[in-house]
Amino acid sequence: MTATAKPVWLDIGPITQIEPGMAATLPVEGGEEIAVFHTMGGEFYALVNKCPHKQGPLSQGIVHGDSVSCPLHNWRISLKSGKALGDDEGCTPTIPLKVDAGRIYLLREAVVPGKAPPLASALAA
Ligand code: FES
Repeated sequence: MTATAKPVWLDIGPITQIEPGMAATLPVEGGEEIAVFHTMGGEFYALVNKCPHKQGPLSQGIVHGDSVSCPLHNWRISLKSGKALGDDEGCTPTIPLKVDAGRIYLLREAVVPGKAPPLASALAA
Protein backbone atom coordinates (compact mmCIF):
# COMPACT_ATOMS: atom_id res chain seq x y z
CA MET A 1 0.00 0.00 0.00
CA THR A 2 1.38 3.40 -0.94
CA ALA A 3 0.38 6.78 0.31
CA THR A 4 0.55 9.81 -1.87
CA ALA A 5 3.05 12.25 -0.42
CA LYS A 6 1.49 15.51 0.64
CA PRO A 7 2.93 18.54 -1.05
CA VAL A 8 5.32 20.48 1.11
CA TRP A 9 5.09 24.25 0.88
CA LEU A 10 8.00 26.44 1.87
CA ASP A 11 7.21 29.69 3.65
CA ILE A 12 9.43 32.31 2.01
CA GLY A 13 8.10 35.35 3.81
CA PRO A 14 5.34 37.94 3.98
CA ILE A 15 3.72 39.37 0.86
CA THR A 16 4.66 42.84 2.05
CA GLN A 17 8.30 42.10 1.17
CA ILE A 18 7.57 42.69 -2.51
CA GLU A 19 5.99 45.93 -3.68
CA PRO A 20 3.37 45.73 -6.47
CA GLY A 21 5.06 45.81 -9.86
CA MET A 22 8.31 44.50 -8.42
CA ALA A 23 10.15 41.22 -7.99
CA ALA A 24 12.46 39.64 -5.46
CA THR A 25 14.95 36.85 -5.87
CA LEU A 26 15.36 33.72 -3.85
CA PRO A 27 18.78 32.07 -3.98
CA VAL A 28 18.49 28.29 -3.76
CA GLU A 29 21.37 26.13 -2.64
CA GLY A 30 21.76 23.36 -5.21
CA GLY A 31 19.09 24.80 -7.47
CA GLU A 32 18.20 27.66 -9.75
CA GLU A 33 17.64 31.16 -8.39
CA ILE A 34 13.93 31.94 -8.31
CA ALA A 35 12.24 35.24 -9.11
CA VAL A 36 9.03 36.02 -7.24
CA PHE A 37 6.84 38.66 -8.87
CA HIS A 38 4.06 40.82 -7.44
CA THR A 39 1.86 42.27 -10.17
CA MET A 40 0.08 45.61 -9.99
CA GLY A 41 -3.11 43.55 -9.89
CA GLY A 42 -2.03 41.92 -6.64
CA GLU A 43 -1.11 38.49 -8.03
CA PHE A 44 2.09 36.62 -7.14
CA TYR A 45 4.07 34.35 -9.47
CA ALA A 46 7.38 32.51 -9.25
CA LEU A 47 9.66 31.59 -12.13
CA VAL A 48 13.22 30.44 -12.48
CA ASN A 49 15.14 33.71 -12.77
CA LYS A 50 16.37 33.05 -16.31
CA CYS A 51 14.96 34.29 -19.55
CA PRO A 52 14.45 31.48 -22.10
CA HIS A 53 16.36 33.55 -24.67
CA LYS A 54 19.85 34.07 -23.20
CA GLN A 55 19.18 33.67 -19.50
CA GLY A 56 18.65 37.32 -18.66
CA PRO A 57 17.60 38.00 -15.04
CA LEU A 58 13.82 38.29 -15.31
CA SER A 59 13.62 39.69 -11.77
CA GLN A 60 15.18 42.90 -13.13
CA GLY A 61 12.60 43.25 -15.88
CA ILE A 62 9.53 45.45 -16.01
CA VAL A 63 6.32 43.80 -14.81
CA HIS A 64 3.21 44.76 -16.75
CA GLY A 65 -0.05 42.94 -16.40
CA ASP A 66 0.79 39.27 -15.97
CA SER A 67 4.02 39.37 -17.96
CA VAL A 68 7.56 40.65 -17.53
CA SER A 69 9.88 42.20 -20.10
CA CYS A 70 13.37 40.77 -19.97
CA PRO A 71 15.93 43.51 -19.23
CA LEU A 72 18.40 42.23 -21.83
CA HIS A 73 16.54 42.08 -25.16
CA ASN A 74 12.98 42.91 -24.16
CA TRP A 75 11.32 39.56 -24.75
CA ARG A 76 7.99 39.39 -22.94
CA ILE A 77 7.54 36.36 -20.71
CA SER A 78 4.19 35.23 -19.30
CA LEU A 79 4.29 35.08 -15.52
CA LYS A 80 1.50 32.49 -15.58
CA SER A 81 3.06 30.01 -18.00
CA GLY A 82 6.71 31.07 -18.28
CA LYS A 83 6.29 31.11 -22.07
CA ALA A 84 7.74 33.75 -24.34
CA LEU A 85 4.97 35.87 -25.86
CA GLY A 86 4.53 37.28 -29.33
CA ASP A 87 6.82 35.94 -32.04
CA ASP A 88 9.45 34.67 -29.61
CA GLU A 89 9.70 31.05 -28.57
CA GLY A 90 10.91 29.47 -25.36
CA CYS A 91 9.76 28.78 -21.86
CA THR A 92 11.06 29.44 -18.37
CA PRO A 93 10.05 26.95 -15.66
CA THR A 94 7.34 28.20 -13.32
CA ILE A 95 7.27 27.38 -9.62
CA PRO A 96 3.88 26.68 -7.99
CA LEU A 97 3.15 29.44 -5.50
CA LYS A 98 0.36 30.11 -3.07
CA VAL A 99 -0.45 32.95 -0.72
CA ASP A 100 -1.96 32.11 2.64
CA ALA A 101 -2.60 34.49 5.54
CA GLY A 102 -0.35 37.13 4.05
CA ARG A 103 2.61 34.86 3.44
CA ILE A 104 4.12 33.44 0.25
CA TYR A 105 4.70 29.71 -0.14
CA LEU A 106 6.53 27.81 -2.88
CA LEU A 107 6.13 24.12 -3.65
CA ARG A 108 9.31 22.57 -2.30
CA GLU A 109 9.76 19.84 -4.89
CA ALA A 110 9.52 22.41 -7.69
CA VAL A 111 12.21 24.55 -6.07
CA VAL A 112 14.77 21.76 -6.06
CA PRO A 113 13.33 18.58 -7.56
CA GLY A 114 14.21 15.49 -5.60
CA LYS A 115 16.24 17.21 -2.93
CA ALA A 116 15.96 17.99 0.73
CA PRO A 117 15.04 21.41 2.09
CA PRO A 118 16.71 23.72 -0.37
CA LEU A 119 16.42 27.26 0.76
CA ALA A 120 19.66 29.11 1.26
CA SER A 121 18.15 32.31 2.54
CA ALA A 122 15.07 34.44 2.54
CA LEU A 123 13.87 36.68 -0.23
CA ALA A 124 16.17 39.45 -1.37
CA ALA A 125 14.28 42.44 -2.68
S1 FES B 1 18.03 37.24 -22.55
FE1 FES B 1 15.96 37.80 -22.25
S2 FES B 1 15.39 38.68 -24.12
FE2 FES B 1 17.42 38.05 -24.43
